[in-house]
Amino acid sequence: DLPSLAKAFADYFPIGAAIEPSHTSGLKAELLKKHVNMLVAENVMKPDAIQPTEGNFTWGNADQLVAFAKQNGMEVRFHTLVWHSQVGAWFFKDSEGKPMIDETDLAKREVNKKLLLKRLDTHVRTIVGRYKDDIKSWDVVNEVIEPADPDGIRASDWYKISGTAYIETAFRAAREAGGLDAKLYINDYGTDNPAKRDRLYELIKEMLGKGVPIDGVGHQTHIGIYGPDIADIIESMQKYSELGLDNLVTELDMSIYAWNDRRDYGAEIPDEVIKLQANRYRELFEAFKANKDLLKGVVFWGIADDHTWLSSFPMKRTEAPLLFDQQLHAKPAFWAIVDPSRQP
Ligand code: G3I
Repeated sequence: DLPSLAKAFADYFPIGAAIEPSHTSGLKAELLKKHVNMLVAENVMKPDAIQPTEGNFTWGNADQLVAFAKQNGMEVRFHTLVWHSQVGAWFFKDSEGKPMIDETDLAKREVNKKLLLKRLDTHVRTIVGRYKDDIKSWDVVNEVIEPADPDGIRASDWYKISGTAYIETAFRAAREAGGLDAKLYINDYGTDNPAKRDRLYELIKEMLGKGVPIDGVGHQTHIGIYGPDIADIIESMQKYSELGLDNLVTELDMSIYAWNDRRDYGAEIPDEVIKLQANRYRELFEAFKANKDLLKGVVFWGIADDHTWLSSFPMKRTEAPLLFDQQLHAKPAFWAIVDPSRQP
């Protein structure tokens, strides 16, 4: 008689989870069907998964995920049309197969830039065209801000070859292919960090000024039990909403370690750590609820602690960042946000 997570938040916002194709059957699928009403692909809609080589679109896994969502009345959001990681190297090679970034001839660099943007335009239009009836929420670009890099934009191949033109091209192509009801997001982590938050704000303002169709900011929200401050997370949402943008929490999880902690709790996660996590999840969702007008949804990066990127990255150690444990049982954090009176 466990209450449904999604139903508990029905008056506030949809609740989502990132999944792999294998999670569409068995016990994991049952857990998802009960608790979430939005899905996102953890990996199978990334550029290298969908177009591993030029013109070779591989839809099988992505289609399977969309079909599972449809059968179960769930929304799907797309992650991600553009990224500097998990993208085929072919995008950045010139017509002779040489890396575009090595080109020194200015005229040839211009040719390369055009070729890259043409490839990107095709990638975006092909994908958005295929899924536009089934998917309304899109991560168009992911992790483009890096305050430590020149101009505060990540020094990726995308940027080195095209400047910020790739961001423009991706959003414009997505709008043209997806129409006005496609919600187009710029997604990033650490959006509570002032340097990052402000640079992202400036970039969006500049893009909006040029008519680039950005609808919202995706806040990954990979946080921990010791930080960042919840007030900073909310403040950043308020800031973007001043630009008329939507906010979406796109990849929520809560590490049980401090970022630079070298410990590994192994099978013995201390009770007080699990309790601290529950309390912080409760405070976080209280803040989300109080700001539901700013927030279009909350998507977890996974559903249960048996499957989380944090266990392999950055240090291999036992992690427990989600609301369900390794056995798929509800943790104190689940009760903390669904019904605090039952929180152990
Ligand atoms: O698919 C290959 C498989 O063929 C190979 O045998 C295996 C051996 O390592 O690797 C498999 O690829 C792995 C892939 O996940 C699919 O499982 C990669 O090694 C692994 O690095 C990759 O990790 C993903 C990571 O993004 C890559 O950057 C994580 O699962 C995924 O959770 C993570 O998600 C990112 C978001 O996209 C963006 N925001 C941060 C978030 C967490 O890092």
